[in-house]
Amino acid sequence: METGRVLVVDDENLVCWSLAKMLKRIGHLVEIANTGANARLKLESFSPDLVILDASLPDVDGLQFLEECKAKDNNLLVIIMTSSFHSDLAFQAFSLGADDYIGKPFNIDMVEQSVHKIFVKKNLVKDVGLPQAKLRKKYEQDQLVGNCPSMVELFKIMNTCAQQDCKTILVLGESGTGKELVSHGIHNLSARKEAPLIEVNCASIPENLLENELFGHEKGAYTDAGTREVGVFEQAEGGTVFLDEIGDMPLNMQSKVLKVIENRKFRRLGGAKDIATDVRIVAATNQNLSTMVSEGTFRGDLFYRLNMMCITLIPLRERKKCIPSMVEYFIDRLNSEYGRSVEGISSEALRVLMAHNWPGNVRELRNSLERAMMLEKGKILSTDHICVFPGSEKDRPEGCHFGCSVPAASTIYLPAGGISIEEVEKEYIKQALSRYDGNQTKAAKCLGLTLDTLRYRRKKFGLEKYPETPPDISTLAAESADQDSSQVFPG
Ligand SMILES: Nc1ncnc2c1ncn2[C@@H]1O[C@H](COP(=O)(O)OP(=O)(O)OP(=O)(O)O)[C@@H](O)[C@H]1O
Ligand SMILES: [Mg+2]
Repeated sequence: METGRVLVVDDENLVCWSLAKMLKRIGHLVEIANTGANARLKLESFSPDLVILDASLPDVDGLQFLEECKAKDNNLLVIIMTSSFHSDLAFQAFSLGADDYIGKPFNIDMVEQSVHKIFVKKNLVKDVGLPQAKLRKKYEQDQLVGNCPSMVELFKIMNTCAQQDCKTILVLGESGTGKELVSHGIHNLSARKEAPLIEVNCASIPENLLENELFGHEKGAYTDAGTREVGVFEQAEGGTVFLDEIGDMPLNMQSKVLKVIENRKFRRLGGAKDIATDVRIVAATNQNLSTMVSEGTFRGDLFYRLNMMCITLIPLRERKKCIPSMVEYFIDRLNSEYGRSVEGISSEALRVLMAHNWPGNVRELRNSLERAMMLEKGKILSTDHICVFPGSEKDRPEGCHFGCSVPAASTIYLPAGGISIEEVEKEYIKQALSRYDGNQTKAAKCLGLTLDTLRYRRKKFGLEKYPETPPDISTLAAESADQDSSQVFPG
């Protein structure tokens, strides 16, 4: 299933309709424009990966519009269509950067082939359906932030790995700590950055397709192999192959990947000759590979090979000093994403964030801020909309909200593995006390309890002295530096 974004620009409705129907059938998102003016607007609002463009539009010269597309983003793909084949026009179109040329009337199968071919040629990232250029842009915008010592150390190690051109790098860390961002960052810092970065999610591709995905195949290699196709190792030549969720790679494939690492060559499926490859392999997982090795579910030889250069990302709860700078960054990002103008966060709300243990790490922090920004009407994020919950972020269904204002019963989700209600109660009491600097009346009101009930439960949970010293928000960040162990190790 291909999932590119395609803008069809033609003043003939029938042409637009037939192209849109075919493109949607093969899985693309499609928008239509009947004039050049409308197409300009859609270039901005829809951000297509591909424009299929009629050369003669009522209001704009097609070739001029092609130039505009390429000037806006040189990676934007453009197929030019004309009513009859003009070699001059075709030549001009190609010299202006068109990716293909189609004469009308066209055969719809040929257009389908052309679309497929240019997406593949431009390294469409098959598993996530994003073209390379888009993927790279996304991560150029998504910066790694954090000014705590462990992040500074991380930036240095990323830079060293990038500059020294280490051929294999293992990135470990809990879910949401930024492994994907780090892997993309290393690519962008390195001399390989102009070559492709191709991502393969080993957990999402069925075992029988993974080999084909990585190594490609020769024509006739199996029943459906009608043409030769290159795999990820060839597409990423000179660049980086990012093997995400490597812990889920089947053992059989693990030995094939190890061979590529050791010999720097591979064969396409059904191929008879070795193909040399120069790629950097960055592998990431949140699983414990050494335990998997001892249990026999991950190959020891591949683990030792990958582990020669290993970056372990520490959980957010152990680098809380980063939280204020991350909050500032996410507010900025979310302001521009959602057209909001939130100016900051109240000290009380920041204190709630600093007190939480972030089982879902930076992803959970970002999600909590995103929810808060959606709900906040004022300029400063307040505690009213900051939702943090002691359970694990990954146990919740997407969009599930906890504890803000008055949650509807239907939005409270019981984690699959169950939960200790006492633990939830204790955590909320701690948060309420901490939010109101130990003021029991306010804490009780916020939890809908009588003062007596709060006193009783405080005693029951051994929280009589909690919070011992009400934290001073201006020193929170500095205090947490003590807990901030710098643990980013080269393996
Ligand atoms: N240091 C950071 N600075 C800014 N954003 C970050 C940082 N670390 C993570 N993020 C953001 O947190 C989210 C999760 O990051 P990412 O996908 O890289 O995590 P991951 O470790 O690969 O998680 P998983 O194991 O679940 O795949 C993303 O939105 C990412 O942009
Ligand atoms: Mg990831």
